[in-house]
Amino acid sequence: MTEAKLEAWLDETRVFAPSPEFAKQANAQPSIYTDAAADPVSWWRKQADRLVWHKQPTNTLEWEIPFAKWFSDGTLNASVNCVDRHVAAGKGDKVAYYWVGDAESDSRTITYQELQDMVCQAANALTELGVKKGDRVAVYMPMIPEAVVAMLAIVRLGAIHSVVFAGFSADALSSRILDSDCTFVVTADGAFRRGAASALKPAVDEALESCPNVKAVLVVKRTAGDVHWTDGRDHWWHETVDRQSTSHVPEFFPSEHTMFIMYTSGTTAKPKGIYHTTGGYLTQVATTQDYIFDLKPDTDILWTAADIGWITGHSYIVYGSLINGITQVMYEGLPDSGGKDRWWKIIEQYKVSILYTAPTTIRTLMKWGKEFPAGHDLSSLRLLGTVGEPINPEAWMWYRENIGGSRCPIVDTWWQTETGAIMITPLPGITATKPGAAMRPFPGIGVDVVDNNGDSVGNGEGGYLVITHPWPSMTRGIYGDPERYRETYWSRFPGKYFAGDGAKRDEDGDLWLLGRIDDVMNISGHRLSTTEVEHALVGHPAVAEAAVVGASDDTTGQAIVAFVTLRMSAGDEEKDQAAMIEELRQHVAKVISPIAKPRQIILTPDLPKTRSGKIMRRLLRDVAENRQLGDVTTLTDPTVVNMIADLMDTHSSGDE
Ligand code: WT7
Repeated sequence: MTEAKLEAWLDETRVFAPSPEFAKQANAQPSIYTDAAADPVSWWRKQADRLVWHKQPTNTLEWEIPFAKWFSDGTLNASVNCVDRHVAAGKGDKVAYYWVGDAESDSRTITYQELQDMVCQAANALTELGVKKGDRVAVYMPMIPEAVVAMLAIVRLGAIHSVVFAGFSADALSSRILDSDCTFVVTADGAFRRGAASALKPAVDEALESCPNVKAVLVVKRTAGDVHWTDGRDHWWHETVDRQSTSHVPEFFPSEHTMFIMYTSGTTAKPKGIYHTTGGYLTQVATTQDYIFDLKPDTDILWTAADIGWITGHSYIVYGSLINGITQVMYEGLPDSGGKDRWWKIIEQYKVSILYTAPTTIRTLMKWGKEFPAGHDLSSLRLLGTVGEPINPEAWMWYRENIGGSRCPIVDTWWQTETGAIMITPLPGITATKPGAAMRPFPGIGVDVVDNNGDSVGNGEGGYLVITHPWPSMTRGIYGDPERYRETYWSRFPGKYFAGDGAKRDEDGDLWLLGRIDDVMNISGHRLSTTEVEHALVGHPAVAEAAVVGASDDTTGQAIVAFVTLRMSAGDEEKDQAAMIEELRQHVAKVISPIAKPRQIILTPDLPKTRSGKIMRRLLRDVAENRQLGDVTTLTDPTVVNMIADLMDTHSSGDE
């Protein structure tokens, strides 16, 4: 966000006081902040009683910067906590998921009992295929119930899942499989998007050409398209899982047993394998969801509109929600599958009471127009949430008025793949809300905004967001690379976790998250690094050099703009340039994912560099956002920038 935009934003700040009706019945009461602050570690230990422990922990926190252990002598099973406990408590008939397919005619209702049966069968099938405790299993799946079942079955066995978003390319999948040495893959033949089947299995086949250690692939039949089959390696889900027994005796694992790995982009070309362990992670996802979403398990229908391929899906479609034993909507399709009012139809039909989604989606829905939500009964909604990127006040107000009927509190939740669970958020019924502010650290969480020297800034000032104390769901590191973990998060301000985000404390001391201050971009809530996209571009034989920046974009938050110099002059004609630009965009889609395709590629004979040879991204960002150019005195050739600005006007490629 530009400084000017931020100023305008802060100027028009409105404050919404918590409603007394909400406060009366809220799960969190005001004393929660002081109770937690008095002794955060003991407070978290109390929250750990939400879990079913096989052996109760007596240890709480063991902290050797930057490595934390929580509840280390306790033992438990994550899948028992999500499923078996509810069935054992007599809630087997309760609906766990109303699964809603891409097509309106396609839906499934899955109770906790059915979920338990499926998880046990899948655990038995995976055991038959050879999956053992500690093995890494890649999950590359569309939004179908089997994705959740696979995750739960994997952790039930003490194996480790690495869910790779199904929108990632074969190359991205294989590099993730190799990095953590996954030896099994669970996938589907394909997926549906706006009524059309698209294949998924070919990407797995291609990825596995470079992954010789993968022993077995379990494939859900979703689209019934033709699939290439490798005998001995590939197994159909319906042939392997469905014939298994629905009982499975779980083993219990130490609290610090690794549960999953989730790759996320850092500032280098290589994604980081962020891993999470069991007891602390489950404690914090369950606690945050209960208080922030004010869960009433007997009546609420929660819809977290995210993909299980990202951390939001892990924490608030799978683990937190299931531990809390609530009923959810899980949706396979796009916001406009079957029409631009599809979301509102779903909310009306299933009486969704809590909706949690990303600002980028809200902006898209807003662009389509308020007549779409207005045509549906959304009175079942009582709470709204956002996650993934800063939300502009305009989108916040639109969400409040047109979706929440001006009565639902909005929780703007800040967190990261690394934090595992929500860290900064209002609490409904207690905290006032302001359009665009995430407001306060969650109880038991220590957050600060600091200047370059690591000193706290005062009210009305901005700086770097840091987390000052260990928290239960914090990542335990980067898989296989403890040094990189220390270096990335714990070296900038010794003893404090460096989040990579800018933040501001307003005059009331409330927190505003301002976006990344490093080379990480946030495209439609998807995290990508500039270096990753540059790396993909220079991997193309025609490219000599590339510089990528995230430029602000009204819908996607940020959009990728790439400045590329070619190796040979690729022809001066307009037509050749356009073809080259398109080829490069497709190349990035192939190497990373269609979500990483640059919005614009500018072919330029030169890039602006400092005298020491560093590319001046700040200038390029100014150019990409049509801003007045800043100080160019350290440039080797200041004319380069103006030349690029001119090129942007003439040769840039359009949007999708
Ligand atoms: C980055 C983390 C957390 C699940 C989805 C993203 C940005 C996240 C907010 C928010 C402003 C936010 C930050 C953060 N971010 N939530 N409420 N307000 N920014 O997880 O892919 O690990 O990305 O998303 O920049 O560092 P992720």
